[in-house]
Amino acid sequence: MKSLVVYSSRTGNTQKVARAIYDALPEPKEIFSAKEAPDPSGYDFLALGFWVDKGTVNAGSAKYMETVKNKKIGLFGTLGAYPDSDHARRCLEKARALVKDNEILGEFLCQGKVDPALIKRMETKMKDDPHHSMTPERRARLEEAARHPDEKDLADARALFVELAQTASGKKPA
Ligand SMILES: Cc1cc2nc3c(=O)[nH]c(=O)nc-3n(C[C@H](O)[C@H](O)[C@H](O)COP(=O)(O)O)c2cc1C
Repeated sequence: MKSLVVYSSRTGNTQKVARAIYDALPEPKEIFSAKEAPDPSGYDFLALGFWVDKGTVNAGSAKYMETVKNKKIGLFGTLGAYPDSDHARRCLEKARALVKDNEILGEFLCQGKVDPALIKRMETKMKDDPHHSMTPERRARLEEAARHPDEKDLADARALFVELAQTASGKKPA
């Protein structure tokens, strides 16, 4: 069974998770950014990663995800919001819709530190925008995001994807 990890990452968070997943997967395996990723047809299990950009899957990952059909896959992503929030659930639903012609074996989301330039824009240009202005709740969430992905996130991602690869290879019942 051959595995492929494909991800996008603007500031490095999703790349960290992607590398952790890649390291944990059994050989044979390959890892590529979405821009450089090969046609998915030659692989049995795909770990597809994205970062959340304005409430949805970042464009580069979305484009690749739409090319994947009839595969066993796992989804992973990073975002500024809490992974158990409604916002995160909605983002995951959008990711699922992009890969609807596949068997999704599992999903993983964690927070990822938000680009300081964007935080600065929230504090200045977006300060009158109710969706982005810097409330105490938003600041607390961004402070928590700044600590992620942490070692536990990476360990959780590794553990989940090892299991998913076993399921994909038929070594473990789905
Ligand atoms: C332009 C931009 C838009 C973002 N939009 C959202 C969003 O809608 N929801 C969210 O939870 N996080 C959002 N984030 C935070 C990123 O999803 C988060 O920091 C992610 O971990 C970045 O991943 P990367 O380091 O792999 O690029 C945004 C970040 C940027 C820079």
